Amino acid sequence: LSTSNTYTTAPSVLLLGPDNAGKTALLTLFERGAAPAQTHTSQVTHDVELNASTDADSKDSFRNHDDTTGTHTKFLLVDTPGHGKLRNIAMGKLARIEKLKAIVFVVDAAALSEHETLAPTASYLYDVLLFLQKRASDQSKKKAPVPVLIAANKMDLFTALPSTMVKSHLEAELTRIRSSRSKGLLDSGVGMDDVGSEEQDSWLGEYGSEKFSFKQMQEYDVDIDVVPGSVTSDTPGADKWWKFIAQQF
Ligand code: GTP
Ligand code: MG
Repeated sequence: LSTSNTYTTAPSVLLLGPDNAGKTALLTLFERGAAPAQTHTSQVTHDVELNASTDADSKDSFRNHDDTTGTHTKFLLVDTPGHGKLRNIAMGKLARIEKLKAIVFVVDAAALSEHETLAPTASYLYDVLLFLQKRASDQSKKKAPVPVLIAANKMDLFTALPSTMVKSHLEAELTRIRSSRSKGLLDSGVGMDDVGSEEQDSWLGEYGSEKFSFKQMQEYDVDIDVVPGSVTSDTPGADKWWKFIAQQF
């Protein structure tokens, strides 16, 4: 399916994020409009075509996604594998996708207080945001800006961090990654003349700032929102994420 021409040119929303965050479960929830399917580790990308209704009363709810009575926009929701060893598949998709409207970066808010989840989650997010930053800096490409929704999933679990803390934990870890990556470059023996530009190239956000914040990405036309939800329970559910997606069309 994903090789047909209509599919490659349809506007797309890309699901990114580490393994076990709930990307595939979210896709099946939106696809079915009801309960999500059982999932297992994804190893390939997977597209589904959905409708974002624009005129129904319930347009803000994904339960209305297959509405064909009114005006709607067809788009592709693209699931990707989150496993670290398959990162090239997801990043490759990000680089190649044609009409990218938005990124939904799914994180497991219930596991994010543990460093063993926070570190790989933030490291992946760093790569995604740096990709968008470089893309915005590349004048020759003139691509439309791509907003990022950080879907703080699994809010039904008692260990889940509130979304404000999901945000602050991620920003703190991104700050740490940023400084350790720039030190790595300084230590790597690159000639001093080259250090400045190389370091700036891989520095996320405002160059030289002490702390990274998502706001710094506005300089590169990247809007980032952290929004809580849960795929497997109705409260808080996934309607706010759907609303964000539907607003892109
Ligand atoms: P990869 O394919 O490995 O990248 O993972 P993924 O992001 O696709 O995760 P997946 O959708 O397979 O979900 C992982 C597990 O989390 C599954 O057992 C889901 O049922 C569970 N899960 C997803 N969303 C929620 C949620 O909101 N709450 C709870 N409690 N569990 C969830
Ligand atoms: Mg999956």
